[in-house]
Amino acid sequence: DGFAAEKLFNQGFSYTYDDVIFLPHYIDFPTDSVQLATRLTRNISLSIPCVSSPMDTVTETYMASAMAALGGIGIIHSNCPASQQAAMVHAAKARRVPILSNLVFKSPSDRIDSDDDFASSPFILVTESGTSKSKLLGYVSYADWTSQGNKEVKIYDYMVNSGASVPWNYDLGQLDAFLEENKKDFVPLLKDGEVVDVATKSEVERIKSYPKLGVGSVAADGSWLVGASIGTREHDKERLKLLVQAGINVVVLDSSQGNSSYQIDMIKYVKRTYPELDVIGGNVVTMAQAQNLIQAGVDGLRIGMGSGSICTTQEVCAVGRGQATAVYKVSLVASHSGVPVIADGGISNSGHIVKALVLGASTVMMGSFLAGSTEAPGAFETKNGQRVKKYRGMGSLEAMIKGSDARYLGDTATLKIAQGVVGAVADKGSVLKFIPYTMQAVKQGFQDLGASSIKSAHDLLSSKVLRLEVRTGAAQVEGGIHGLVSYEKRSF
Ligand code: XMP
Repeated sequence: DGFAAEKLFNQGFSYTYDDVIFLPHYIDFPTDSVQLATRLTRNISLSIPCVSSPMDTVTETYMASAMAALGGIGIIHSNCPASQQAAMVHAAKARRVPILSNLVFKSPSDRIDSDDDFASSPFILVTESGTSKSKLLGYVSYADWTSQGNKEVKIYDYMVNSGASVPWNYDLGQLDAFLEENKKDFVPLLKDGEVVDVATKSEVERIKSYPKLGVGSVAADGSWLVGASIGTREHDKERLKLLVQAGINVVVLDSSQGNSSYQIDMIKYVKRTYPELDVIGGNVVTMAQAQNLIQAGVDGLRIGMGSGSICTTQEVCAVGRGQATAVYKVSLVASHSGVPVIADGGISNSGHIVKALVLGASTVMMGSFLAGSTEAPGAFETKNGQRVKKYRGMGSLEAMIKGSDARYLGDTATLKIAQGVVGAVADKGSVLKFIPYTMQAVKQGFQDLGASSIKSAHDLLSSKVLRLEVRTGAAQVEGGIHGLVSYEKRSF
């Protein structure tokens, strides 16, 4: 019944996730026993197969720490000066609970002239020199400042003296217990004498209300696993140096067409200069492209060209491949060399994740799926009565003007041609809430297929036990929501 993947993907068609459907197999285990633990690269393991895209509307400090807390990983984008990217990596690693406060520092001899100083934070931290790196002396809350009649006086006249702090690596339970026992509304987190964040009671309560966090992605030194992207130009070597100093665990070489002499040279440079650092190459969609990068020494491969929700590469350049075919084909080559693959782009529901993983990927990389979350960069806006966040392609003119042109131009071309668009995505709440629900849905898909792990799904596919078919246009309509006048779509 149905087709083996080998037959289905060798007929000259480029299929995407929605084109194909798996036939159910046999269930002999409960949903909760499905294991989604996986590998990002040759040497990095994750407890869930989720990676956030290196895009400036997706992954900065907050997203990277949240993805690691969930057991996945975030790749911090490079569309900013190298020092800023390195600072984001440093900050993401310097916390164990995904909170992010706006910190404002003053010294005791400063004055607070206007309530502008409280615009981004309800309190100001007072340190010896007025920077995060000097000794913590206390704080001034907005209430302290407003009740202070004479605004001319210096902070030391009315600040609350309190050096109370906790170590940066306190987990949620420890933070909660500290705030509870000490009857505090907030507490600064310290790493090597520097204030790296502040845990507030309300943030701790918010995170406690989500599904319990599983096994986070922790590096050998106890910090979160964090990745970062770079380009393949000469000056990216300097960027990489700063990122390595900031402690990245993996680097992603960010090119829309990765099979190039520039990327191969860079892979060899990274492996030679930083033998301990895993390098992910890409993007690729064919077996030949993958083979070249594997030979050059990549530890992981990123698959996808033009499949992203904001991509126009296939239309602009006439190059790319349907994502289901690309994942299947590249995974065949990569699995022979023990290189895990990342299915990048085109994920808009849990079924797409199931398809990507079963077809051979070890992880999925997501942009739009995560861009409307609390942890994505930027503020929510209201458009047509709906709360949305901006999401833009890194090949959009807007992003390229800010500096991301290297990914799309690759060499030294000077005229900019857009390969992406700018848009907005709906508010989805916190990734800490919707990713656990999404993973539960993925587990159900695996259970229907009789696959108890990603590895067993790959084995069932290659041994032709799992069967697929192509869906006609009408079958796709039937498989989606249809025939209702209106509906509310909610998975959790
Ligand atoms: P999703 O579908 O998750 O896709 O939103 C995210 C992935 O899309 C790629 N990307 C682009 N591709 N033009 C492109 O052709 C662009 O402007 C662009 N920006 C991002 C990237 O691989 C990302 O992970």
